[in-house]
Amino acid sequence: MIVCRSKAEIEKLRRVNQLVARILAELRHMVAPGVTTREIDASAEALVRVAGAEPAFKGYQGYPATVCASVNEQVVHGIPSPRRLVEGDVLSVDLGAKLDGFYGDCAVTVPVGRVSADADRLLRVTEEALFRGIDAVKPGARVSDIGAAVQAHVEAHRFSVVREFVGHGIGSSLHEEPQIANYGPGGRGPRLSEGMVLAIEPMVNFGDAAVKVLGDGWTAVTRDGTLSAHFEHTVVVTGGGCEILTLLDSDTARAREFVNAAVRT
Ligand code: MF3
Ligand code: CO
Repeated sequence: MIVCRSKAEIEKLRRVNQLVARILAELRHMVAPGVTTREIDASAEALVRVAGAEPAFKGYQGYPATVCASVNEQVVHGIPSPRRLVEGDVLSVDLGAKLDGFYGDCAVTVPVGRVSADADRLLRVTEEALFRGIDAVKPGARVSDIGAAVQAHVEAHRFSVVREFVGHGIGSSLHEEPQIANYGPGGRGPRLSEGMVLAIEPMVNFGDAAVKVLGDGWTAVTRDGTLSAHFEHTVVVTGGGCEILTLLDSDTARAREFVNAAVRT
C-alpha cells in the first residue's frame, strides 16, 4: 500500500526535506581537493543534530555514517573515510535525516575542482534524467513512467542506468512503497495520486550498467571501473504534478533551466 499524506504530514515532510537540502548545499561548499570524506560526514552529522534532527542512515542495517560519500567509480553507499579528495574526482553525497517522525532524503554529485569534459557531461545528464523522471510525476501517471523517462534520457546520451538500486516511497520510514526503478517500460505499476511522497534517485554509469558491492558490504562500484553519478530529490504528488520538497528557493531558477533543457534535447 502506498500512503497518501495529509496536509499536516506534508508540512513535516517539507520541513525535514528542506533541512536536508540546506545541509547538502553546505556540504557542497566543503567539497574541494584535500578534504576527506570523513570530514564531510562529521560536518553533516553536526549540522543535522544542531537542527534537532537525527541522521537517517546511521545505524540503518548497520550503516556506520551520516552520509554516503561515493567517489568516481563508486556508485552509491560509499562509506566516509580518511580518503582525501583530489582535483578531477567526482563525489556523490547522499544525506538522509529524520525530524519530528518524518524522513528527508536527497543526493547530489559534485565535481572536485576542475573535472574532465566526460565527467561534466555524466553529471549533467544524470541530473537532467532526474528532472525528466520528476516531470513524469502527476496524479494518474504510473510509477514506471518515472523510470521510463529516466532511462530514455540516459540512453539517448549513451550512458547506462544502474539496475540494482532503486528509488522509493518515503515518509514515516526511510523506505516505503513503492520501489521506483530507473529503467523499464512505462505504463506499469500503481497509479500516482495526490499526497504520495517519493524519493527519485537515478544512478548512471559512464560505461556498462553492471555494479558490484565491495568487501565492506556497502560500497557499490561499477564493474568496469568507469565513473558513476547519482542525484536524488524527494517529491510530493500534487493536484497539478508534484512539488520537489528538497529543492531550495535559491535553486528553482537552476531547476527550471534543467527542465527546459530536458524539453529541448
Ligand atoms: N538514498 C539511499 C537510499 O535511499 C541511501 C541509503 S544509505 C543506507 O537507499 F545506509 F541507509 F542504506
Ligand atoms: Co533514497
